[in-house]
Amino acid sequence: MILDLGCGTGSTRRALADHLPPATQWRLVDHDPALLALAAGPGTRTFAADLNALDALPWDGVTLVTCSALVDLVSDDWLTRLTTILSDRHLPFYAALSYDGHMSWSPADPGDADVTAAFNRHQTGDKGFGPSLGPQGAAALAARLAALGFSVRIADSPWRLQPRDMALQDALLAGIGAAAAEAGASDAPDWTRRRRVSLPETTMIVGHADILGCPHGT
Ligand SMILES: C[S@@+](CC[C@H](N)C(=O)[O-])C[C@H]1O[C@@H](n2cnc3c(N)ncnc32)[C@H](O)[C@@H]1O
Repeated sequence: MILDLGCGTGSTRRALADHLPPATQWRLVDHDPALLALAAGPGTRTFAADLNALDALPWDGVTLVTCSALVDLVSDDWLTRLTTILSDRHLPFYAALSYDGHMSWSPADPGDADVTAAFNRHQTGDKGFGPSLGPQGAAALAARLAALGFSVRIADSPWRLQPRDMALQDALLAGIGAAAAEAGASDAPDWTRRRRVSLPETTMIVGHADILGCPHGT
């Protein structure tokens, strides 16, 4: 039984489906009922719940906990509470796709570094769990699990977007530019315009890390 935290539309389940037995059962947790409706499917039960209330999640019978694109949103305090539960319940944890603070584009733009720095500052704002760990989330999780005696594997899993992914790159640019502007990068609107013009020839790399932590004996 796998418990997926912050499941969104169910992308962790979709990504792992080909690597797990067909009869695998999932409990999918999110606070957004519209996303849960999209995530529902065979072998799943959905739970509308606030992840801040960690103790109230449906832990009984769970054998693996997963999440994707979540660890950079949470606070140090939340991570401490989660990893304590994982340790107490002797549960392995697979946390995919934590943003690691690195973005690069080719061709480069003189504003890339400033926008990335401002975006990273914005990533440390409160996303509903207290001050976010942002780009430090993956390293903090790995350190916390190791301190609890888990064996920890961490691997790079960057998004590599090509010119053919222009629509996705465009949507990302809008979000990155807006967040960077909010965090004080005055050049962000012009940077976004310049980047949009060069989208047909742009490749983009967004650094992410995947972490697998296994308690002793699992
Ligand atoms: C960045 S999205 C990741 C979604 C999905 N795991 C994926 O990789 O596509 C974060 C998810 O966490 C959910 N979320 C954020 N804060 C939450 C909270 N306090 N309680 C429950 N779910 C929350 C959001 O609704 C969203 O679906």
